[in-house]
Amino acid sequence: MDSEEKKSDSGDRRDFVGKCAAGAFVGAVGLAAAGSLCGLKPSVLPDPSEQFKIGSGQDFPVGSVKVFEKENVAVFSEPDGLYAISLVCTHLGCIVSLNAKEGQFDCPCHGSRFTLKGKVTRAPAPKPLPWFKITAQPSGALMVDKGISVESGTKVVV
Ligand code: FES
Repeated sequence: MDSEEKKSDSGDRRDFVGKCAAGAFVGAVGLAAAGSLCGLKPSVLPDPSEQFKIGSGQDFPVGSVKVFEKENVAVFSEPDGLYAISLVCTHLGCIVSLNAKEGQFDCPCHGSRFTLKGKVTRAPAPKPLPWFKITAQPSGALMVDKGISVESGTKVVV
């Protein structure tokens, strides 16, 4: 190898290293730009709405109860209005079942019992079943919002 070949090799190597450095710089800038764009978006998306439609007032004759299994909610119709109650046990989250014969909710996991108004009658559940807000739409449709708890005893007249 003569000295001109060495210079040429050395020049090629410098070119190659220079191109790699430029490529790495462009890549780093691109990643930083993409990262900052991602930073503009919320990393935690809001929960989807917890509202669901339960029908209209005619669907709830006084004395009736409807269980919405997918939503784990029961809606009771009484002479003074409707109320929606959670079917998720306040102990460890099992789904309570409506025991119509005994007039109570039974938890199959550790034996908690609740009245039909959600009051604990047998531990280990530490607190009552929550009640949820019911709203009537202008169309007459009734909605339950599992994201909004209301005080026990809060009923909606339809
Ligand atoms: S989850 Fe209901 S009693 Fe434990």
